[in-house]
Amino acid sequence: MDTLIADLEPFGTRAQLINQTTIAAIQSLPDETVDLAFVDANHFTEAVVADVIELTRVMKSGGVIVGHDFSPYWFETSLGVLWVANGFRRSVELSADGTWWFPDMGIETDEILAAWPASR
Ligand SMILES: C[S@@+](CC[C@H](N)C(=O)[O-])C[C@H]1O[C@@H](n2cnc3c(N)ncnc32)[C@H](O)[C@@H]1O
Repeated sequence: MDTLIADLEPFGTRAQLINQTTIAAIQSLPDETVDLAFVDANHFTEAVVADVIELTRVMKSGGVIVGHDFSPYWFETSLGVLWVANGFRRSVELSADGTWWFPDMGIETDEILAAWPASR
């Protein structure tokens, strides 16, 4: 934790450490304020889907949701990413190191709530 705090120091007020679960942290953020999010927490399918869907509310237009561990080893994570891509008909990009990203989620709030009512 000390190392993390020291690493964030050069960024001043632009970096904020939020010591909460992903969902709680995302829910504390205002709408459309995030340029880039990196998802690398709970790797179970439902958690990955919930993280991405919660994030869509806080992403700025054109913001990018990135994550880690799309791989056969992290099968549940991969399934979560594919669930979102398939469920919302959105392209997902993959790189050889297991990084995945949605360049354009473009999901309307109504569409999110219809697909994932349990997140509210
Ligand atoms: C695969 S590690 C990645 C950590 C970091 N991104 C890195 O690359 O060093 C996943 C981390 O997410 C944390 N985690 C698990 N579930 C979480 C949740 N629901 N909310 C926030 N963090 C969570 C774990 O404790 C672990 O530290």
